Amino acid sequence: MSSSDPIGIFDSGIGGLSILEKIHDLLPNENLIYLADSANAPYGPKGEAFVLERSREIMTFFLEHQVKAVVVACNTATAAAVGTVREEYDIPIIGMEPAIKPAAEKSQSRVIGVLATEGTLASDKFVDLKSRFDGKVEIITQPCPGLVEEIEKAELDTTAISTLLAQYIPPLIAKGADTLVLGCTHYSLIAAQIAEAAATAVNIVDTDDAVARRLKSVLEEHSLCSETGGDVSYFVNGDTERLMKLFHRCLGRAVNLEKV
Ligand code: DGL
Repeated sequence: MSSSDPIGIFDSGIGGLSILEKIHDLLPNENLIYLADSANAPYGPKGEAFVLERSREIMTFFLEHQVKAVVVACNTATAAAVGTVREEYDIPIIGMEPAIKPAAEKSQSRVIGVLATEGTLASDKFVDLKSRFDGKVEIITQPCPGLVEEIEKAELDTTAISTLLAQYIPPLIAKGADTLVLGCTHYSLIAAQIAEAAATAVNIVDTDDAVARRLKSVLEEHSLCSETGGDVSYFVNGDTERLMKLFHRCLGRAVNLEKV
């Protein structure tokens, strides 16, 4: 393994793009490979066995591309699979989890809302994380079925998205939440719409910067930081034409997508 080898980053779809951008900004010399498993999105309702199988297939794909590290830019896949894939593959694997700790530090009302997929919220990993805050802050969880499917369509500002948010956000505010945790990477792409649906000032907290910083320190620990490079390649397995528009919209520029 060499420091100029790429880093693999994956999500069930476009959700991990915000993390990819943060990583590219923080580590501009790293070569990055992004894989959007859009043909299999959403992961949220599909169960741990399915998500673990997808994660293993994606690891195989990344290893064929000689990656030196992998970022699981997906809370659902981290919850379902990161422990197992870390045992099975001998490279650094960075996962993510809903940012409850920073949210608890920000909240004045001591009530925080966590938006995430059904899979993340049902996982042992999340139940364990939540229990660490028992008695310190009230945590209200809100699964958001349907939201990832809508975000994976070609537009991000649709009535369908606002209708779902009108269902999911106001009840959290009514229960006193002043801080919302985006516990699914797709939701960062609609953070503005989430803030609007809250209809009051709320803190919105995601994990994107923290994941990029964690990757940097893991690369440093393993002496794997690249000095030159900075290429980014994008791989997709869904409808390329639709994804082309979506990637363009999320990244603010057109990129070349390779089909796998
Ligand atoms: N973006 C994902 C997450 O962070 C996956 C969402 C899904 O596919 O349901 O949880």
